[in-house]
Amino acid sequence: MPLTNRTGIFSEENRSKREELIGRLQRAYWMEIETVMSYMANSINPDGVRAREIVESLEQDIQEELGHARQFGERIKELYGVVEGSMEFSPEQKYLQPPEHQTDIVHVIKGVIEAEKGAIEHYSRIIEFCDGLDWVTQDMVIAIQHDEEGHLRLFEGFIREFEAEGLV
Ligand SMILES: [Fe+2]
Ligand SMILES: [Fe+2]
Repeated sequence: MPLTNRTGIFSEENRSKREELIGRLQRAYWMEIETVMSYMANSINPDGVRAREIVESLEQDIQEELGHARQFGERIKELYGVVEGSMEFSPEQKYLQPPEHQTDIVHVIKGVIEAEKGAIEHYSRIIEFCDGLDWVTQDMVIAIQHDEEGHLRLFEGFIREFEAEGLV
């Protein structure tokens, strides 16, 4: 609870909205953490020359997704929430598990696209929820969503290339 009289998202009348927002940010935090886990594994496992570009992109994204997780966590704290511990984590990214064959890079690209789309969907709803309520969180999540749209576009480009070569 805020220690002094506050307005907007910190006001007493917005207490339940603040709690709901913290819940949504917590989910976003876990999505980012799981993405770090999945991108880490999928940047190490792949074999073959075709995988090199994908692996390098994932290595860069891991750092960005880690930064997003930290931003979500810090905003949770600013909103007087507490970032959950690892026992509260439950995985969701079935589509980013290692493929049967480690040369199957299309499986990885498709999994990344699904993860990015899922993040964009969840973040869009947070942005809408914050409208007129919490401009700071809204601004932060818009910037993060911009990063995810960049990741999505990059991996859609990879899929297009594989499609053009008849490999999908
Ligand atoms: Fe992210
Ligand atoms: Fe991303």
